Amino acid sequence: MSDRKRLAAEKAVELVRDGMKVGLGTGSTAYYAIEAIGRLVREGYALQAVPTSLASERQARELGIPLTTLDEVGMLDITIDGADEVDGNLDLIKGLGGALLREKIVAHSTRTEVIVVDDSKLVRTLGTRSPLPVEVVPFSHGRTRLYMEELGCQAELRGGDRPFVTDNGNYIYHLHFERGIRDPYGLQQRLREIPGVVETGLFLKMAKKVFVASDEGVRVMERV
Ligand code: A5P
Repeated sequence: MSDRKRLAAEKAVELVRDGMKVGLGTGSTAYYAIEAIGRLVREGYALQAVPTSLASERQARELGIPLTTLDEVGMLDITIDGADEVDGNLDLIKGLGGALLREKIVAHSTRTEVIVVDDSKLVRTLGTRSPLPVEVVPFSHGRTRLYMEELGCQAELRGGDRPFVTDNGNYIYHLHFERGIRDPYGLQQRLREIPGVVETGLFLKMAKKVFVASDEGVRVMERV
């Protein structure tokens, strides 16, 4: 499994050119992409990178990758990130790693959002393999949970009695939909209308290319 993750990540990093501004994803697949980007920096590429989590920032610092912020550089040329599910429209669920908010902020300011996965992440319907992570403000999060459940899911606080706290000081709920997410666009809108919801792990129309590694090698799915 980790071999396939590495394969997808390294293939995607071939898109990175000298001088680019690069977003660094989060998770076990993005980890390999950051390693490969570190090698490019050692070869002499002048890159500037924006990490999507404190963990990726730490890894990048250890590898000597020059870091910057979106506020300093504006749009990024490319971001390479993982995903928890990818459907046939290249819509995604992300955030099981807990970094969805920064990942979405960075993806929104990226010209080419590239996703790296192994083929176990491909689904016909979002929400069938993975729950949907949603970042929620801790204040009155029990009420926020009820409003989310009114949308037809079971909401489970990540970490339970000892809630997982994101890099932004928020909680994560995992939303379980018994038959998957029928209307991801409608759901995204309705979740964002709930006060207390900061952001969801639905990444809709954001991915430009998805590198999928399987036993047969790496294939690229592209948004047309
Ligand atoms: C991090 O918050 C997530 O969006 C990850 O990108 C996603 O969970 C994929 O992680 P893995 O590559 O570890 O499966």
